[in-house]
Amino acid sequence: MKVCVTPREGLYQVLAAVFNAFEREPAIAELGVLKGENALRMQQTFAPESLMLVDSWSADSQKAYSPFETLPAWVSPPETFAYYYGGPLDDPATWERLYQNCIDKFVDQPNVQIVRKDSHSAYEDVRQRIAGRGLDLLYVDASHQYEYVLRDLLTWQDLVRPDGVMMLNDCCYSRKGAMQNLGVLEALVNFLKRSDFVPVAMTNTDFSDVVLVRKGSYMIEAIDTALANSDVPFVELPPQLLGAARVVNGHHRANLSFC
Ligand SMILES: C[S@@+](CC[C@H](N)C(=O)[O-])C[C@H]1O[C@@H](n2cnc3c(N)ncnc32)[C@H](O)[C@@H]1O
Repeated sequence: MKVCVTPREGLYQVLAAVFNAFEREPAIAELGVLKGENALRMQQTFAPESLMLVDSWSADSQKAYSPFETLPAWVSPPETFAYYYGGPLDDPATWERLYQNCIDKFVDQPNVQIVRKDSHSAYEDVRQRIAGRGLDLLYVDASHQYEYVLRDLLTWQDLVRPDGVMMLNDCCYSRKGAMQNLGVLEALVNFLKRSDFVPVAMTNTDFSDVVLVRKGSYMIEAIDTALANSDVPFVELPPQLLGAARVVNGHHRANLSFC
C-alpha cells in the first residue's frame, strides 16, 4: 500500500491515466454527494461514460450520527458542523439547498444521473440502471458511521467490476474525525477481512482517501506502475498496517503515523 503525498485529486489523475491506458471510459457512482463538488471534479477528470450520484439530501441522515440518547462526551453535537452543510442540519431547507446546488452543476450533462435516496435504498435502483455493465469506480462518502459504512461496502461491492476500483473518503483516525464519530477506517478494516479487496494507495492527509482493488486484478500492477511513474511522492507499507493509521498534526500540516 502506497501512502501518497497528494490530495485525492492527485490519485484521480493517476486512476484516470490507468483507465485511459486501457481505453476504459469508466462508469462511476458516488455515494454521498453534498453540493456535487467532488462529483464535478470526477466528471472533469475522468470524462466518465456515466456518473451516478446517490445522496439522500435529507435531515434523516443525521439520525445515524450516534446510537445513544445522550451524546458521549468525546463526540461533538451535529450542529457543530452546520457550517459545512451551510445551515442547520435539522432544517429540510438546508438539504434542499444542497440538492439544488448539486443538480445545478449537472444541467445538460446527460451522462449524469441523480438518485435522491439513502445509499441502502438506492442500491437496487443503481443495480438496474447499470445492469450487466458494472462500475469501474465507486466512491464511498455517504454516512460515516461504522455500521452504515460497513453496510455500504458489503452491499455495493457487488456492483464493482472485477477490475474495478473503490475509493473511501474520510478513512482515517484523527482527533477531528473522532469528534465527528467517524467509523470509516474501522469499517474498512472489518470489510477487508471479509472481502477480496486490498488497499493499494492512500493519501497522507487528514480525512484520508483510500483506494481499493480486488486481489488478483491486473489493476494492482497498473496502479502501482502509474504511481511509480508519476510525480506523486509515496512511501510503501504492508497493507496490514492500514488499521494503525492515525493523523498527527504539526504546525504546518497533517501527516499519517502508523506507530
Ligand atoms: C461528506 S458529505 C459528501 C461530500 C462529497 N462526497 C464531496 O466530497 O464533495 C456526506 C453526504 O452523504 C450524505 N449521506 C449521509 N448519510 C447518507 C446515507 N445513508 N445515504 C445516502 N447519503 C447519505 C449526506 O447527505 C451528505 O451530503
